[in-house]
Amino acid sequence: MKYAIVTGGARGLGLGIVRAMLEEKTVEQVAVIDLRLVPPPAEIADRVHGFTADATDEQQVHAALEAITAKLGPNPDVLCNNAGGGEANWFESGRQEEWHSVDIWRRYVELNLNSVYLVSKEVVPRMKAGAAICNTSSIAGMLATPFLAAYAAAKAGVISYTRSLALQLGPKGIRVNAVAPGLIYTKIWEELGAAIGGGPDRARLAFDSAVRTLVPLGREQTPEDIGRTVAWLCSERAANVTGQVIAIDGGIVLGRPPLRPE
Ligand SMILES: NC(=O)c1ccc[n+]([C@@H]2O[C@H](COP(=O)([O-])OP(=O)(O)OC[C@H]3O[C@@H](n4cnc5c(N)ncnc54)[C@H](O)[C@@H]3O)[C@@H](O)[C@H]2O)c1
Repeated sequence: MKYAIVTGGARGLGLGIVRAMLEEKTVEQVAVIDLRLVPPPAEIADRVHGFTADATDEQQVHAALEAITAKLGPNPDVLCNNAGGGEANWFESGRQEEWHSVDIWRRYVELNLNSVYLVSKEVVPRMKAGAAICNTSSIAGMLATPFLAAYAAAKAGVISYTRSLALQLGPKGIRVNAVAPGLIYTKIWEELGAAIGGGPDRARLAFDSAVRTLVPLGREQTPEDIGRTVAWLCSERAANVTGQVIAIDGGIVLGRPPLRPE
């Protein structure tokens, strides 16, 4: 029985990844590691197993892995390091201050970069040849993003670490890739949009404006868009792909959107 471990898989992009992994039969079961578990959607509930843990806490991650392997088997087939993002007050502080407080800088790096190393260190020794890892970076890690400098630096770190780990694990037959999602209206954007737009009632407006201004394809991205790409990267159909970063962003990282007549 093949199974995946997805951090931050309870909602948002993580849930999109869980759904796609099961729908596309990349794996048969999924273990979700999340700080705040919620019951999975009914149609996949029998194949999703929740484990509460903080992906930035070494001991909690170790305990979760002991529980997961006891339940689903000693050798995970897929790992998706997806937990990340930020909190409303971090975004708010970025809007008000040119410099993050040292504490907020550290927390961004801890959540978005150090967790990827920490969970991988716990999972990889349990993996066998043929296994695959996909890390969730961001377009913020590919583009300069002054308002979110610490987040951007951490997500750029995820891209760099993805490449190093791919080289490290290539001889063991384990593949490591990353996705860089663009603009998806999850909880993160509800809070980020409120910080940019100047209040919760303006969050969706700020998001729609970012989509209109930045996305050459002219539409927002969805958890399904991200999930399908991750499921493919972690499947045997991508057996010769490693160390790559795929932006799923409607073309944002190409630069500026084409000029459009008004
Ligand atoms: N939404 C976007 O537009 C966007 C764009 C680019 C990248 N991303 C990245 O995608 C990933 C998922 O983002 P999302 O938009 O789905 O966010 P989200 O806030 O909707 O979901 C994040 C999930 O991770 C969990 N989580 C948070 N901290 C955790 C921790 N320390 N340990 C374990 N679980 C934890 C949360 O409980 C939640 O279930 C993040 O890494 C984020 O940086 C999101």
